[in-house]
Amino acid sequence: MTSNLLEPELKPDAQPTNPTGRPQDGVRPTLGAPDAEMALIVTIDGPAGAGKSTVAREVARRLGLEFLDTGAMYRAVAALAIDHGIDQADEEAVAKLTRDADLHFDWTTDPPTLLAFDRPIMDRLRDRDVSALVSPISAMPEVRDVLVSLQRRIGGRHPLLVTEGRDQGSVVFPQAPVKLYLDASPRVRAIRRAEQIGEGADIDAIERKIIARDERDSTRAVGPLVRPNGGIVVDSSDLPFDVVVDTLVGIVREKVGGELLLAISRRAGNG
Ligand code: DC
Repeated sequence: MTSNLLEPELKPDAQPTNPTGRPQDGVRPTLGAPDAEMALIVTIDGPAGAGKSTVAREVARRLGLEFLDTGAMYRAVAALAIDHGIDQADEEAVAKLTRDADLHFDWTTDPPTLLAFDRPIMDRLRDRDVSALVSPISAMPEVRDVLVSLQRRIGGRHPLLVTEGRDQGSVVFPQAPVKLYLDASPRVRAIRRAEQIGEGADIDAIERKIIARDERDSTRAVGPLVRPNGGIVVDSSDLPFDVVVDTLVGIVREKVGGELLLAISRRAGNG
């Protein structure tokens, strides 16, 4: 194992610029100050509805790593744009709001609590109006710039991390030692979505929407949905949740070796 494999990705542009002077990604690593060799960033990319979030959270728990939900950050921006009455088509105004919000996580809670303007915003993230707006918001290059920088900064401060989102391995942490791409067929994703909606859900219509969204997402100019270079694809279509988690944990073990994982696990109090 070469040491550069384990280097956290911290770009030169990822310096704190927060006017409050407080670290923007929240207080401090819950795992204590990491030594240089104790770094492991695992990225999980993939399309919406492939179950990334729940799987990533469980993979992080099993490995004793922290977990970063980057979708929550885009959702927070959408919520803020609505609640602050910002013109949702005004990219500059939305980007300014993103910078001003001082988005950061409180890592002392499980899962970490996302704060904007120093207030928890988690309760708002799954609301219907937010879910409807988040896709166009996440297609705004200026907003992505702000959040990508922030995510890299978080990776620098929390280098024992599973980070989930569509661009984590491809754009945000291309040097991560383990890059995973969690896929599922449009049909399976449509069935899962229909189960969430409940009675009356039209699986065929949902599937058509998913296919159209995949097409939009993978061809868009910024942060397109792509399989990261060197990423390992896991198709979860026919696999139960536990098997998907086992598979990803197994891949991480194989890639980074048991010694580091044991040390991480001990540090996190898992072992
Ligand atoms: O995973 P999610 O549903 O919470 O993501 C919310 C939206 O943000 C969804 O449209 C995908 C987008 N997103 C993104 O463009 N880049 C990320 N790193 C994470 C999410």
